[in-house]
Amino acid sequence: MNDECKAELQKAVEASKGKTLRELFAKDPARARKFTLSAAGWTLDYSKNLVDRQVMGHLMAMARAAGLAVEIERMFTGERINATENRAVLHTALRNVDPEAQVFVDGRDVMPDVRKTLDRMEEFSIKVRTGKWRGFTGKRIRHVVNIGIGGSDLGPAMASVALTPYSKRSIKCHFVSNVDPTHLAETLRAVKPAETLFIVASKTFTTQETMSNAEAARSWLVERLGDRGAVAKHFVAVSTAAEEVERFGIDTENMFGFWDWVGGRYSLPSAIGLSLMISIGPRNFRKMLKGYSRMDRHFRTAPFERNMPVVLALLGILYSNGYGAQSYAVLPYDQYLSRLSAYLQQLDMESNGKCVDKDGRPVCCDTGPVVWGEPGTNGQHAFYQLLHQGTRFVPCDFIGECRTHNPVGDLHDKLMANFFAQTQALAFGKTADECRAEGVPEGLVPFKTFEGNRPTNTLLADELTPETFGALVALYEHKVFVQGVVWNIYSFDQWGVQLGKVLAKGVLSDLTGERQSFSQDASTNALIERYRKVLGRTRR
Ligand code: F6P
Repeated sequence: MNDECKAELQKAVEASKGKTLRELFAKDPARARKFTLSAAGWTLDYSKNLVDRQVMGHLMAMARAAGLAVEIERMFTGERINATENRAVLHTALRNVDPEAQVFVDGRDVMPDVRKTLDRMEEFSIKVRTGKWRGFTGKRIRHVVNIGIGGSDLGPAMASVALTPYSKRSIKCHFVSNVDPTHLAETLRAVKPAETLFIVASKTFTTQETMSNAEAARSWLVERLGDRGAVAKHFVAVSTAAEEVERFGIDTENMFGFWDWVGGRYSLPSAIGLSLMISIGPRNFRKMLKGYSRMDRHFRTAPFERNMPVVLALLGILYSNGYGAQSYAVLPYDQYLSRLSAYLQQLDMESNGKCVDKDGRPVCCDTGPVVWGEPGTNGQHAFYQLLHQGTRFVPCDFIGECRTHNPVGDLHDKLMANFFAQTQALAFGKTADECRAEGVPEGLVPFKTFEGNRPTNTLLADELTPETFGALVALYEHKVFVQGVVWNIYSFDQWGVQLGKVLAKGVLSDLTGERQSFSQDASTNALIERYRKVLGRTRR
């Protein structure tokens, strides 16, 4: 974070501290209206934050001091802003629905390839959905198993739950990611080989977990169907690495490509979304892209003061760097968004979990926070106690919709009553005097008092549709981007995941090899010995 940003943040913190939400609301009856924004089908009420016009003014000045406007344009126009990997960052091109749009990387328009891949995905999805594409024995595809991990899993896995109401119920989507054999084994128990299509999804097509699972699935299929030729009808690939795909034995005719300028955690709207497209159909998939694109346009063009990703990002920085918040909670009051926080963990923590700035120097302040959450109301009966009365400061995003896809009695009204009430309780709490006025015995007053003043954002849409879903994902993508710009870190690389991968290779050879002496540290060696003993790999 540069000195000018630091100075503005400091002013924002000074202006913010000591203010209570009770006072802020009492002082300004128009506060809720003033601190509410709309974009791409979502309303953001951020009035229950520890801010006023003055605080927001300093936060906006901080964004300007970071050169945010320039950075946004550099991303949208295909500059190589992912400098440590020397790549452009153009996930926004994947959902650019303008038929005339051109987006250049190194002088080449990428949009024709983007459109061509989408058309190929569409053609293939329709074949699978209508039964034109059949398995080796002539049976219709009833199960799609996406094998991938990280960005090649979390996006489609989260979206296929989120958009269940739009799915073709006769085709079930499964997601295998973990190299724990249980994940694959339990999935294979639930499917029939002759009716199953495997999508091997991996940008690099070298990721150990994915390739090991894909090889095991291929052996299972060949063994069950008794013919190696079956692979062609039951395996397709999504990757940027054509040679690796061929080496695995998948015809590149059945490969759907994407490009090095699509980061794994930003790849849901690319061919990585193939399983989702098969499930919800190309029309709904394109509606999702439209939703993404509406939020993209809003982010690129709205003034910072009215810009939803910018506002969310700056509030996050205020709390991370001004109030010492270590985490934020994402609390969707929608069962269909049950995988959202897992998805956001990769998006946010892999992007902004960085400790050096763009010059390779240690950062001067905390960067990406820990992201966590569970759908409401379940969380209320688990961890909300800490949110209300714990010693930690945890800003929260509450996400909900006015209409449910499943109207059952008054259940949705009850859900939403909790949704609205929780942000109220967090903001305004309950004073000792209020407790007393309710007749709470004096000895219990300290326990029944709620401090309040705990900030929340409320995101509300009419309904969770492919459009609003796409817009929501784009909102968080851009929020993470803005924070990376202010912190002056590289948000699009992930070198931190490499060391563990490399070490695992050495440990694997110690676990399985003939050698009885191991090359790790004393603790790890002892654990390896214990493991090998149980498996009878210890020579006496
Ligand atoms: O975990 C590191 C990572 O590189 C992620 O960034 C990525 O989403 C995941 O591995 C999977 O990579 P691939 O799609 O190449 O298999």
